[in-house]
Amino acid sequence: MKLGIESIHMHIPTYALDLRDLAAERGVEFAKYQRGIGQEVMAVPAPDEDVITMGANAALGALEGVDRDAIRTVVFATESGIDQSKAGAIYVHQLLGLHSNCRTVEMKQACCSSTSALHFALSTVALHPKQKVLIVAADVARYGLGTAGEPTQGAGAVAMVVSATPRIMQVEPDAGYYTEDVMDFWRPNYRDEALVDGKYSIKVYLHALEECWKNYQQETGASFEQFDHFCYHLPFSRMGLKAHLHLAREENASLSSRELQQQIEPSLGYNRLTGNTYTASLYLGVLSLLDDDSLELENNRIGFFSYGSGCMGAFFGGTVLPGYREALKTDSRRRLLAERQFLTMDEYEAFYQFALPKDGSEFVTPRHQTGAFRLSGMKDHQRSYEKVPVAAGNAGGSTCAYAAAPFMG
Ligand code: HMG
Repeated sequence: MKLGIESIHMHIPTYALDLRDLAAERGVEFAKYQRGIGQEVMAVPAPDEDVITMGANAALGALEGVDRDAIRTVVFATESGIDQSKAGAIYVHQLLGLHSNCRTVEMKQACCSSTSALHFALSTVALHPKQKVLIVAADVARYGLGTAGEPTQGAGAVAMVVSATPRIMQVEPDAGYYTEDVMDFWRPNYRDEALVDGKYSIKVYLHALEECWKNYQQETGASFEQFDHFCYHLPFSRMGLKAHLHLAREENASLSSRELQQQIEPSLGYNRLTGNTYTASLYLGVLSLLDDDSLELENNRIGFFSYGSGCMGAFFGGTVLPGYREALKTDSRRRLLAERQFLTMDEYEAFYQFALPKDGSEFVTPRHQTGAFRLSGMKDHQRSYEKVPVAAGNAGGSTCAYAAAPFMG
């Protein structure tokens, strides 16, 4: 039985910051961002976007053409959850009008829980081949203004339908895992911004990659040469390159610059233009690779490395299926990226400082450009969401019917 990804789509905020502007304001050479960490643009969520709206927008696209009644499980993977108790999956389930005989759950382990969600989904459909699982991975990567982490911020979501009738990718059930209790990056419940030991986090990431790869080889006997392309968790795009060179060195594989470019570069494009999206980041990289129409990926084997600080890693493999391109929404994703509105530094900082009330008072969120769902406000400590009319053909959150909204209402 083939198990894997039947459909996949993403959502990113309509607003973005050109890192040239951030570099100028922070007194840093843009080359440090562009070449040193490999980032050019950061996706910035508007006050009326959160992980629920981004996740629901991505899921709307992923569900196009899928038998919704077969979705019996919705898993929401995030580390920017909106509630300590209630799963984000329930909000998405409601916004999408899914069948009520459905299991809904939220998963957490930093950036890696989306991969655990994928493996959980594979086990579920292996046991129940008629069922499909909807995975929603959504996050807002938020450090502090003026910190070293600031240029790696970002926001976005990826949603996938996993089933026994995959059209895009067959995902292999075996994986190499590694867990170690470390404090490289964390966010206590009372904080909105992550705390991070940046340089240490890179070391731990690379160590987890080595350990996962060793474990993967023990479990499967696979070799480096068996993979055509690699997709890594991307906190910033240059990390993918660092990771791949590290793995190649461990394997004594000497890569020509052409091989290096071919194995890793196509997966980096979307991250360079959005920033870190935590749980969604690896899968945004997968979409970047799949959407590259200069490549013919049918039957290509892809190696994936998922990393979540704290830390846990997973290495696993998958094979792109014949006809995969027909199941992609490449044009919609290109529109999402191309039609974004760039913020000035003042606007970016105002978006960053925006906070919902914490005292239960009623609040109507200023209207900005969003996808098909937005956070309309709060009352009695409860968030409310609404559907936004989108232009025909834009379901999946590509563009909004509203004209550019006045900044912050
Ligand atoms: P930094 O202080 O900007 O680092 O922090 P830097 O000064 O070492 O500069 C970065 C690179 O730019 C260096 O290259 C410099 O040489 C280069 P490298 O040594 O790495 O090859 N550079 C230049 N290049 C060209 N022209 C120039 C120039 N100047 C310098 N003029 C850091 C960088 C990534 C640490 C920081 O942004 C940070 O703390 N980010 C957040 C943490 C992070 O992303 N960690 C990654 C691993 S952990 C992870 O992936 C998990 C995570 O996603 C969370 C989760 O799991 O939930 C974060």
